[in-house]
Amino acid sequence: MLDGNENDRTMLVTGHARIADDVWHITLRDPDGAELPAWEAGAHIDIVLDADTVRQYSLCSSPADRHAYEIAVLREAEGRGGSRRICDELAVGSSVTIRGPRNHFPLAHAKHYLFIAGGIGVTPLLPMIEAAHAEGAEWSLVYGGHTRSAMAFAASLVAQYGEHVELLPRDEVATSLSRRLPELLEHPQGGMLVYVCGPESLLTAAEEHMTHWAKGALHLERFSPKAVEGENHGFDVVLQRTGRTLYVPPERSIVEVVQDAGVVVLTSCKDGVCGTCETIVLEGEIDHRDSVFNAEERETAESMMVCVSRCRGDRLVLDL
Ligand code: FES
Repeated sequence: MLDGNENDRTMLVTGHARIADDVWHITLRDPDGAELPAWEAGAHIDIVLDADTVRQYSLCSSPADRHAYEIAVLREAEGRGGSRRICDELAVGSSVTIRGPRNHFPLAHAKHYLFIAGGIGVTPLLPMIEAAHAEGAEWSLVYGGHTRSAMAFAASLVAQYGEHVELLPRDEVATSLSRRLPELLEHPQGGMLVYVCGPESLLTAAEEHMTHWAKGALHLERFSPKAVEGENHGFDVVLQRTGRTLYVPPERSIVEVVQDAGVVVLTSCKDGVCGTCETIVLEGEIDHRDSVFNAEERETAESMMVCVSRCRGDRLVLDL
């Protein structure tokens, strides 16, 4: 079930066009033409198709445009069905519910950026590139995909930014993105930030190839949950503001137990990827199992995603 109704916003679909083999570009506006909440590069919105079908998509337009949110959706024929509904059923003139924007992939300031995109992972990088370019930063984008016709925005990126952009369509080039990655990341460069978005295999490879880089150099965003290993055990959660203590058994999540007790926690994906359920932790040792925080953030995080993360000990005190 979905609980965040007060954050929901009805939007009008004003653009719905296929822009690559399986990619649709969708433009959403307020039905009355009102200005939309501001956002920064890296932000995403939730598309709420129904209570159990909520999908996250990066905003790929310019934050300067306060009257439209644009996303690009890969139609996953073998997926769970959300992207098929968005690509096949949403039409210009129809309405759709969204939530957000939220940003767990912000662009930190740097003089030098390397952007790496795999397939539809290029979308959050578009406003980042716009910002980096506008600031006069040095930057390059290496963008891989199956074929050129499957790579959304490839032609416009090359047209706009020329040799900043290296395209690696797998059917045309001898060196695919996965093969190029070790060479790209072999030599750490001081002051350079690396932003990566794409399939899990690309993200994992980037993590593996950047272990010798400075902490904080790698920034990535996951839209599918990272596999997390670990046994579950039961523990207590103390809801500080509500004044209740609840037991979370091994087979249930914190959010299930807390919501069953009638306490409101906003949720969306329930997979640890969207960040909606982030909750402040006042005491206790968190067992982070989400795909939102990176390794560094986990070390210092004073909050947790209560849909998937758990407790290392036997008690957590939450600001609920
Ligand atoms: Fe999405 Fe918890 S509901 S991270």
